[in-house]
Amino acid sequence: MSDHKHKKSPETAFGIDIGGSGIKGAPVSLAEGEFAADRLRIPTPQPSTPDAVAETVAKVVNSFDLGKDVPIGVTFPAVILHGVAQSAANVDKSWIGTNVEKAVHDATGRKVLAVNDADAAGYAEVVYGAAKGVQGVVMVVTLGTGIGSALIVDGHLVPNTELGHLEIDGYDAESRAAESVRDREGLDWAQWAERLQRYFTVVENLFWPDLFVVGGGVSKHHKDFLPLLDIRTKIVPAELRNAAGIVGAAALAAQAHG
Ligand code: BGC
Repeated sequence: MSDHKHKKSPETAFGIDIGGSGIKGAPVSLAEGEFAADRLRIPTPQPSTPDAVAETVAKVVNSFDLGKDVPIGVTFPAVILHGVAQSAANVDKSWIGTNVEKAVHDATGRKVLAVNDADAAGYAEVVYGAAKGVQGVVMVVTLGTGIGSALIVDGHLVPNTELGHLEIDGYDAESRAAESVRDREGLDWAQWAERLQRYFTVVENLFWPDLFVVGGGVSKHHKDFLPLLDIRTKIVPAELRNAAGIVGAAALAAQAHG
């Protein structure tokens, strides 16, 4: 193949994080895994139906001056198979069966990749953050409204692992150990850490990861709970914090559509 036919991988992609309360987006510089401009956040419309959300996503995208070929990566808190949402644990049920990629493409006219929120955040941690360069099995667990999981093996993402919904001691795991539960039940760090201890023990005995990375907003308080865990696997806090979803989605979109 002559040189001019080689596809040059893009320098920039756009990441969008669709969450229950906000829709956030920023262009991402792919060499560094950093925002190339300040992030914009617009509150998630209520009810958060696919049409209303796609329209808001377009508003976020259109407020940046982007080349028309810049790919867009969209994170969504659900199982995503070939662009289509298959579940809706903490979002409007009308999303089930919606093609997120098509909805966002129709609203923006751009190339779109949709990906589970934890998968996007996890991928970013492996490429740019706490698990950068780690070979073997990396398990990223995000603690927020629910529990998200991302399994990355030798740098390759195994999507939609959904380990927040493991049934442990008769409960849906995230209903016992998510950050929102700590908040709702007023658990102190030690009480919450007991629940995390049970959760991470089950997960490590099933997957034997080389490394756990703990993400979600609460990871900034990692000193209050990670040292209380007594597990076999090395466990570290995420590094990209709340940029991880946007950065990971942009990186995956560039790979798919670059
Ligand atoms: C959903 C996952 C999502 C996680 C974190 C879970 O309830 O089932 O798809 O990744 O919450 O938002």
